[in-house]
Amino acid sequence: MDKKIIPQCEPWYDDTEWSYLKRVMDSGYITESALTREFEERVAKFTGAKHAVAMANGSVALSAALLAVGVKPGDEVIVPDMTFIATATSALMIGAVPLFCDIDPKTFCLDTEKAESLVTKKTKCIIPVHLFGIAADMDAINSLARKHSLSVVEDAAQGMGVHFQGKHVGTLGDIGMISFHANKTVSTGEGGMVLTDDPALAARCRRIKNQGREKKGIFIHESIGFNFSYTELQAALGLGQMDKFKEIIERKESIFNIYRNNLKGIEQITFPEIPSHTQPVYWFTNILVPDPEKLSTFLQGKGIQTRRFFYPLHLQPCFKERNAPACKESKSAYDHGLSLPSSATLSEKDQMFIIQSIKDFFKN
Ligand SMILES: Cc1ncc(COP(=O)(O)O)c(C=O)c1O
Repeated sequence: MDKKIIPQCEPWYDDTEWSYLKRVMDSGYITESALTREFEERVAKFTGAKHAVAMANGSVALSAALLAVGVKPGDEVIVPDMTFIATATSALMIGAVPLFCDIDPKTFCLDTEKAESLVTKKTKCIIPVHLFGIAADMDAINSLARKHSLSVVEDAAQGMGVHFQGKHVGTLGDIGMISFHANKTVSTGEGGMVLTDDPALAARCRRIKNQGREKKGIFIHESIGFNFSYTELQAALGLGQMDKFKEIIERKESIFNIYRNNLKGIEQITFPEIPSHTQPVYWFTNILVPDPEKLSTFLQGKGIQTRRFFYPLHLQPCFKERNAPACKESKSAYDHGLSLPSSATLSEKDQMFIIQSIKDFFKN
């Protein structure tokens, strides 16, 4: 018999999504149509954004947002060094140059003071990432952006449900985006959504995703665009996930509290602080330990999947020729961070097994 594996993060689908999927199959419309509009409206209402534009995935949503605010080839864009690589490659895809900035060790988000030291005449934009469900300090980022006339494009890929001082992340800069990739709190397999209050930016994003046109079925293209369309199948999953979203985040919070209450006595484990400006979503429960690789290998042997933090951008082999300066805090976060199994589907029995296994590791 195959050994049971407890996944680090898996989506939670049930009859809720099936009922929306049936609507799609019965309608005969597969590429984006009525359900996609409904999903956009649900996300706009939930986040408080005036406009939400669905995209094929979060990476292209980010590229579209950068194009929409006017980032051009050769422009510099400041990104945090600790993030999924898409934050940087979305800028590269449109010919812009990402500058890697160190992070605040408490939040794992951009260190604004260090960001200011990177600004040159060519810097046009800053991308704060709301990492692991914690908001970046948007007051500091917006004031830095105002001082240097930078656009703010928020990477809220991991931020569905996360608030900064009561406002949903992705709605605090000029434009923002969310990802609905399989491991995100709202999962549509692949998928992304641009959020903005600015109708001109929203209209630009709609044209960028639709080969430069206002409407499909017309073959006059007013501007250059691409095909970043969504599908009704993705929207069906998204609507089902929105119906369950409150429960998804409650389950994630409960998972976090159970880990924290049961592991807090182990002196080698630190739980990152939640800054007072954030109303978090516990997308992943993260811990800091002396040797995450060793703990991860031990847990893997017991069928428990974990995940190391993102490998710092300045160390990525694909960016080697950039000779980017070291980012000490991002390297330290990588050297110590580990994400524990955090699926909304995680059973209490499995979670207690994980906790006992971690206790056994530190006893030896
Ligand atoms: C911080 C961050 N930015 C961007 C992305 C890109 O989103 P997607 O995977 O939907 O393309 C992700 C996805 O994991 C992410 O975590």
